[in-house]
Amino acid sequence: MIIKNGNTFHLQGKNISYIMAVNESGDLHHYYFGKKLSDRDYSKKVKNIEHGLICYDEDGWYLESANLEYPAYGHTDLRTPAFSVRNKFGNSVSRPVFKSFVIKENAVAEVEGMPYILKNGNNAQTLEITLEDKAAGFDIVLSYTVFDEYDVVLRSSAINNISDGEIVIESAYSAGVDFDKGNYDIVYFPGAWTRERYMERTAVKSGMKMEIGNAKGGSGHAMNPFVILCDSKTNEKTGNAYGFSLIYSGNHSTVIENDQYGKIRVVQGLNPFGFEQVLKSGEAFATPQMILSYSDNGLGGLSRTIHKVVANNLCRSNTAKKDRPILINNWEATYFDFTEEKLIEIAKKAKSVGIELLVLDDGWFGKRNDDDCSLGDWAVNPKKLPLGIDGLAKKINEEGLKFGLWFEPEMANPDSDLFRAHPDWIISVPNTKPSLGRKQYMLDLANNDVCDYIIDVISGHLRNANITYIKWDYNRMMTDMPYKGYNHKYTLGLYRVYSTLVKNFPDVLIEGCASGGGRFDLGILAYSPQIWTSDNSDAISRLKIQYGTSMGYPISSMSAHVTASPNHQVGRITPLKTRAAVAYAGVFGYELDITTMSDEEIAEVKEQIKFYNEIRGLVRNGELYRLQSPYEGNYCSWMIVSEDKKEAVLVGVKILSNSNMDEENIYLDGLCESFTYKDTETGEIYGGDELMYKGITPEYELCDFSAYVKYFKAEV
Ligand code: DGJ
Repeated sequence: MIIKNGNTFHLQGKNISYIMAVNESGDLHHYYFGKKLSDRDYSKKVKNIEHGLICYDEDGWYLESANLEYPAYGHTDLRTPAFSVRNKFGNSVSRPVFKSFVIKENAVAEVEGMPYILKNGNNAQTLEITLEDKAAGFDIVLSYTVFDEYDVVLRSSAINNISDGEIVIESAYSAGVDFDKGNYDIVYFPGAWTRERYMERTAVKSGMKMEIGNAKGGSGHAMNPFVILCDSKTNEKTGNAYGFSLIYSGNHSTVIENDQYGKIRVVQGLNPFGFEQVLKSGEAFATPQMILSYSDNGLGGLSRTIHKVVANNLCRSNTAKKDRPILINNWEATYFDFTEEKLIEIAKKAKSVGIELLVLDDGWFGKRNDDDCSLGDWAVNPKKLPLGIDGLAKKINEEGLKFGLWFEPEMANPDSDLFRAHPDWIISVPNTKPSLGRKQYMLDLANNDVCDYIIDVISGHLRNANITYIKWDYNRMMTDMPYKGYNHKYTLGLYRVYSTLVKNFPDVLIEGCASGGGRFDLGILAYSPQIWTSDNSDAISRLKIQYGTSMGYPISSMSAHVTASPNHQVGRITPLKTRAAVAYAGVFGYELDITTMSDEEIAEVKEQIKFYNEIRGLVRNGELYRLQSPYEGNYCSWMIVSEDKKEAVLVGVKILSNSNMDEENIYLDGLCESFTYKDTETGEIYGGDELMYKGITPEYELCDFSAYVKYFKAEV
């Protein structure tokens, strides 16, 4: 609901309020974001606190000491600005003031050229507030969408040149929130290849200014565009937590500033580093959308809030709302070294255990037998696959499996026909040899012809063969960006390619991938409902990776595969049971040579698939409760609970074994106290209250890396 009461704008979600007010000079203040408040005119309460050495305007406002909605720089507020626009006079000083507003019932805010949260079947209202800086020659439209069903506020902004000359946008964050003084922590998700989204938490101390960002091209392995601000006492189950999730796949930045008076400013959006956008008279520039979320039920409550809106309202593909196939991928089974016969052999065995789809990974095209050539030449290698892709897909279909194919559409190797024909299609700057990453160049997706080529090539394959799944890879960082703002132009090109393909092939499931989870963001999830979470497929490494990722992303978006032991990335030997137990917390699949597994292993795999079939609805629609953190000790456990609380799966992992010690109890969560639950394996009956407050003592096997899996059903 959106209420305008006097000079107050009050946005209400399911349990939240977001309140702004306009002061008598026209500045738009931020008043409150948190648990739902009653409807009042709060505008007289916006503060103007006089501190020593503060700058003020002739109307008496000290904006440096105020909480502001979309703060400008250079006038009376010198903290990190939400935007900076160089006007035709060559300065970037601005004080935009309230001009007008419009409330749109039953509508979400749309963002030109970029993905945004969809309305789907929900009740949404949108508020647009226009601020204007006449002297500087631009106005800014701030968009806010709230839903009756969710505790989120969707925000974005657009800058319009209303002058008769050029203006230059130097930075434009999507949005920001100013928080009153308090003791806050920031939780963020840095990483690297094979160890993505490791959760970090640190106090936002006095005077601290932190940038959580990435300027390496895609949203990046190094830092995810999701950040949490929470009270220092907030834990998994209790306390205030505020989420900032950017729906964007390029360079991003979140700045957290604890100012000299203890107030906290958070702004999130496009990374200003390497960014610039010239706007001619009459032109406009839109920022990506950001999801602002809140929970007073700790980090767990915040995650569940985000998971719901992301799982239900983000992805454009029909495949998002359907069960995803249990797949087998040949990458860790064969790498580049496969034949048609081998793939069919894998498919046969996979079918016999209940696997539903085979993905042919890298190496099927051009003359690619290693990572040194042929990206860009998306024609089958007949030496490896004499039947062609269509023939192979048919064969795989005949074996009873669906067929999926790997592409890395945004790249070209120097040794490729594509590069030889179009050397100007790669990202480069004049007079400098472009750098290589994994022996490849990046295609220039800011060039429409390049985007059209990619759309044509992929569409051609989808029309010619029965391909129901695409794995879309992206394996290097972006260098040699030819001008400021290039990264954003590239990202818009990428979205055009993605959205065209999803529109034309809405039933083809696209899995995102970027050397594992190097582009695990809401921009990609708008088109591909699942992303290969990490190239590190070791179950124990995955505990931290998946736990961290689950903070901001639903488990239905995380692809997780059972792979070989010893694991190829870390060499660890883990039980097959544990590898599956960890992969159950995601879109489940296998990535190993199933044809070499023993009969006992095959029997176990059959049981795993049978079990996953029972819980796959839970994985897609259930609510995640994290119980024990792998960042804090020797255990990691979590639950997935159905919305009606009638079903729940519990998974626990004990990392290192020990002797002569009692196990720690696991205290379940998210159940209904008054329900009676049955352990579907043993038939043991428990009360919901008993499972949550007395807890259960897991029986781990006496070995390292042991897993404990329980599936409870309510007896109602
Ligand atoms: C990186 C991906 O993350 C892997 O899963 C695999 O597809 C390789 N690329 C193939 O080159």
